[in-house]
Amino acid sequence: MSKITSSTLRTFKTEGKKFTALTAYDASFANAFDSEGVDVLLVGDSMGMVLQGHNDTLPVTVDDIAYHTRCVRRGVERALLIADMPFMSYATPEQTMINATTLMQAGANMVKVEGGHWLLESVKMLTERGIPVCGHLGLTPQSVHVFGGFKIQGRDADNAQRILDEAKALEAAGAQLLVVECIPAPLAKAITDALTIPVIGIGAGADTDGQILVMHDVLGISSGYIPRFSKNYLKQTGEIRSAVRAYIDEVTQGVFPAEEHTFS
Ligand code: KIV
Repeated sequence: MSKITSSTLRTFKTEGKKFTALTAYDASFANAFDSEGVDVLLVGDSMGMVLQGHNDTLPVTVDDIAYHTRCVRRGVERALLIADMPFMSYATPEQTMINATTLMQAGANMVKVEGGHWLLESVKMLTERGIPVCGHLGLTPQSVHVFGGFKIQGRDADNAQRILDEAKALEAAGAQLLVVECIPAPLAKAITDALTIPVIGIGAGADTDGQILVMHDVLGISSGYIPRFSKNYLKQTGEIRSAVRAYIDEVTQGVFPAEEHTFS
């Protein structure tokens, strides 16, 4: 069994092979997802909502992510493990270095940061010092109060162009992976086609190289708001490992996301 690295994901992109990602926050779920064949696991700051019960991701701390990254690390053998840099943990270059180091030492293979042009220097700095970076554009939940809610991004031509330009700039700065969240499918396709690094979509249509979902949505145990772009696989399979396999099968066969999960 060979480990998934950023070069494996690049090969998948070149070969047109779709890959899967899920969030994970503990060793047991991480082990189940990993052993069923999920390629990328993210210790997401979505834990602020699905684990901690907050209305957004802003209260999550570096200590929270580091603790859950250590837990997940113990359950993973094959998947690439990404840790989210939480709100305000990468606002200055010094904070960025210290906090990214903490997450790598907790067991992450890569860190994820939300934002575009303002982040380019940090992405370059981290990459040059040996810390691989995943970018995150579109609906970046840490900016929910700037957006005025969890709203689709890139709907008008100017914003779509800005997101495309930022995607290219992040790749040029050294980012090895990019997540695009809640953007129209044609924009996600344009970004995926324009970049050589793999692009992972969530609420971004079927044309990205990979798909990611929050595990609580896949297992239908999120309380309150259920995003339209997610799918409850436990409902159709009745068992956690079968649900994960169904998610992998549907992504690799191009069945998920379907029209009803997509913003046009
Ligand atoms: O925090 C998270 O879970 C994420 C995914 C939704 C991409 O950033």
